[in-house]
Amino acid sequence: MDTKLLVLEDFKRTGQISEADQAKIAEAAGILRNGGLVAFPTETVYGLGGDARLKEASRRIYEAKGRPSDNPLIVHISDISQLDAVASDISDAARIMADKYWPGPLTMVFKKTDLIPYETTGGLDTVAVRYPVHPVAKALIAASGAYIAAPSANISGRPSTTAAAHCIEDLSGRIEAIVDGGDCEIGLESTILDVSGDNLQLLRPGAVTSEMIEETLGISLSEDAALKGPLAEGVRPKAPGMKYRHYAPKAEMILVDGSDPVKKAEGIYKLAMEKTAAGKCTALLCSDECISDLVRLDPDIKNKLSIKSTGSREDEAETAHKLFELLREMDAEGIEFIAAEGYDEAEIGKALMNRMKKAAAWQIIHT
Ligand code: TXA
Ligand code: MG
Repeated sequence: MDTKLLVLEDFKRTGQISEADQAKIAEAAGILRNGGLVAFPTETVYGLGGDARLKEASRRIYEAKGRPSDNPLIVHISDISQLDAVASDISDAARIMADKYWPGPLTMVFKKTDLIPYETTGGLDTVAVRYPVHPVAKALIAASGAYIAAPSANISGRPSTTAAAHCIEDLSGRIEAIVDGGDCEIGLESTILDVSGDNLQLLRPGAVTSEMIEETLGISLSEDAALKGPLAEGVRPKAPGMKYRHYAPKAEMILVDGSDPVKKAEGIYKLAMEKTAAGKCTALLCSDECISDLVRLDPDIKNKLSIKSTGSREDEAETAHKLFELLREMDAEGIEFIAAEGYDEAEIGKALMNRMKKAAAWQIIHT
């Protein structure tokens, strides 16, 4: 299959959807209406979209991603009025969250309606719903007249895609079209909040943080076991996707954490040197501040190791924005081992560290 690349030139330059861009969005919407698959940008990561009402479109999404079909898809809407068609038993708390954070990087899990087939929800009676704020995502969903099932637009097991180039890398030849609307601002997938039961539960941390949810609802939020550490054999996370070691680079990765930055840099250096001595092609993934500490330890370090900067450790949003792209870059360079700096877990740092811990298969050294 030829995958058509629809580049939104004006949107990428100005952030505004021009008439020429709108014509390309209309073409992509036509593909979705005909049951085809289209990758498109959202504020979190790129999505791999298909009509959520069509069993066959959902089946093809699983096939294109190489994803197990028990892992449910998120249904995307472009107007709050679409919610009642896909979700039932919507609680007051869910309404408050929708009022405050939609459109935006928040997904909520509700009881599903009959409109959404079990093929889309991986056999579950619940449905995850998201109303993205990205202008291109909104325009595309609206133009399709549909509800768009969209997992992240990556091959299952690889880091999520945050630019059209990543979608081309993973999905060319597997789907009808890719809409290129530039880089995703946030770079980590949406927060998932289960509002289908009596107790709200955080299933995946994201840019709508636990602190924000707790403050908005005046509650203390419980978290799914999958966020706390590696799951014991046979334990199922509430969000089936969280059981897979995804967000993963090809390389083995170990996180080095600790409150003293100099000790942390020393730990990263020691680990990287051990792996290099063992013959592994090794890279460092760390902040600018950490790189300065490393250069003090070994002025020649930049000639010895591949070093990837995540930006200032003070700017965790920037680190989050860069993470998946850097993991892909290291894959492309054939890196076999990554020594990575651990970051502060407050606010967006919780989502960042969740993805990093998963990429590291929970291997952490505390300095
Ligand atoms: O930011 C995002 O959420 C992106 C963009 C494209 O919107 N989408 C995304 O989809 O990350 P995906 O499929 O990569 O991750 C969806 C996660 C999976 O872990 C899945 O198991 C969980 O959501 N999920 C979906 N439906 C669910 C449900 N009914 N109950 C519990 N978890 C659900
Ligand atoms: Mg995904």
